[in-house]
Amino acid sequence: MTAVDTSPVAFITGAASGIGQALAVAYAQRGVRVVGGYFPGDPHDPQHTASRVAQVGGECIMLALDVTSTESVDAAAAQAVEQFGRLDYAVANAGLLRAAPLLEMTDERWNALLNVDLTGVMRTFRAASRYMGDGGAMVAISSIAGGVYGWQDHAHYAAAKAGVPGLCRSLAVELAPRGIRCNAVIPGLIETPQSLDAKNSLGPEGLAKAARAIPLGRVGRADEVAALVAFLTSSDASYLTGQSIVIDGGLTVRWPE
Ligand code: NAI
Repeated sequence: MTAVDTSPVAFITGAASGIGQALAVAYAQRGVRVVGGYFPGDPHDPQHTASRVAQVGGECIMLALDVTSTESVDAAAAQAVEQFGRLDYAVANAGLLRAAPLLEMTDERWNALLNVDLTGVMRTFRAASRYMGDGGAMVAISSIAGGVYGWQDHAHYAAAKAGVPGLCRSLAVELAPRGIRCNAVIPGLIETPQSLDAKNSLGPEGLAKAARAIPLGRVGRADEVAALVAFLTSSDASYLTGQSIVIDGGLTVRWPE
């Protein structure tokens, strides 16, 4: 008789790059099996995540996943359970960042961004919640843009990211009777492909300049956000639900000069 593997399984969207990839590695280091979604519309190689996970002795499958499609998200969650027999944690990490001043904010641009950054979070949690039980945990990635600050030329991104904590608070209450927790993480400036994109975000120069205003003196690393997410889904955070945790090197608590 073969023993059933009872180690937890995490479903991560946007796991082929940045914070999602770092989280796959962090989970592997903690004995959590990973089902990572990669978006085929982006150039990131999902094998990179898979091999980083393998390097630390973890187990991971990478699935094509588009969070704007209910069919795609539902199928990925079902495949996760088919592959590993359970689903414990869901991390809605996939995100899209585009710059658009208000007068260039067409309905299409607005809807396309919210479809990923807000509705995509709901789709991810809805799909995963079907399989999750007592001890399950969800985390969504918000942003200090919207979660704390406004950001000019990014009203759609900030609106979506401001919506994420409200979604998580509501699900925290709704899913608590099933023993499932739900929290949001609000990162500040983290060096990833998204923030290094000078057209839609700060780019390398903007990040270096912004680092001077961060009390800890530098931008954050993806693995630092990943460690927080892994903590929030773990049983070490068993009494923590409905919260939004800022991780920003002190940027948002600094007295303006
Ligand atoms: P990233 O660009 O490396 O990661 C985003 C991932 O989402 C990519 O792998 C991308 O392929 C995926 N994605 C995009 N559209 C998708 C779709 N329709 N379906 C499925 N996946 C899709 O950048 P990063 O920074 O790792 O972003 C992760 C999350 O952190 C995002 O939600 C982002 O908005 C958020 N965030 C990042 C900050 C930063 O400074 N890097 C700050 C605050 C929040």
